[in-house]
Amino acid sequence: MKQSNSEADKPLFKEKRTTLSARIDAHKKFSKLEINDWILKIINLKPGEKILDVGCGTGKQAIPYKKIVGNSGIVIATDISEEILNEAKEKAKTANVSIQFILHDANNPFEYSDGYFDVISCCFAIYYLKNLEKVIKEFKRLLRLGGRIFLAGPTPQNAQLLHDLHKKITKKTLPYMPGKSRFMSEVLTLIQKYFQDVKVEIFKNPLVFHDANSFLEYYTSTGLFLNSVENDNERENLKEAMKIEIQKWIHEKGKIEIVKEVGGIIAYKK
Ligand SMILES: C[S@@+](CC[C@H](N)C(=O)[O-])C[C@H]1O[C@@H](n2cnc3c(N)ncnc32)[C@H](O)[C@@H]1O
Repeated sequence: MKQSNSEADKPLFKEKRTTLSARIDAHKKFSKLEINDWILKIINLKPGEKILDVGCGTGKQAIPYKKIVGNSGIVIATDISEEILNEAKEKAKTANVSIQFILHDANNPFEYSDGYFDVISCCFAIYYLKNLEKVIKEFKRLLRLGGRIFLAGPTPQNAQLLHDLHKKITKKTLPYMPGKSRFMSEVLTLIQKYFQDVKVEIFKNPLVFHDANSFLEYYTSTGLFLNSVENDNERENLKEAMKIEIQKWIHEKGKIEIVKEVGGIIAYKK
């Protein structure tokens, strides 16, 4: 069926500043490992490099990137959400780093000349974009010869237990999850088509919860929960049903462990 213009124009998932921050905070509190340690090792930035961070969110990657590239390097960080960028600007100010934050929809071309960047990074965002082939060709245009692209996103196995519990409670098929569905398939295939020396690394990070409220803090900030409820009533009912399930689980096993599984793709323009 042909999509109407309004359907085609709808974003795949609209991130809110509050839920993105809640998710980042929950990872910080409950995860065993820090994902940035893994990202920074793979992307291997050098002082003086120019990097474009697409879908930068609240600056989780852009701020450490700037600390590494230093004053001789440049970090340009873009996002479609003004409220999220405002929080990123505050965080960069607190961290005392200078980053150019730009409001931009990555479905559209960027204003920079061919080969302007040494590195392009897009963490947990590329799969929200519509025409991935067009976007990946645009990323390639922006990179210098020998430049590299780093992408991060969930694997199809990501947070399997969370998805199983959610399905058990809602008794419905899962909502469409662009990351799980597109990242290790459509995105990876296109990177293999347009880039060279493509490598994929897998990061497994258990989130461990010892009480139901901590678990709910995380669960209610996920796309899985947010895309499954349409009003306050549904939100409260699903929260309550999950609380009962998790209380039972913790009573029996002492804790609940959700394993986040992320893929990292690094590739070169040659
Ligand atoms: C899950 S967050 C990831 C943010 C950050 N990279 C991180 O890992 O914390 C996804 C981000 O992509 C942004 N985004 C979604 N669609 C976008 C688009 N069309 N253009 C630019 N950014 C977009 C959202 O606003 C959100 O900040």
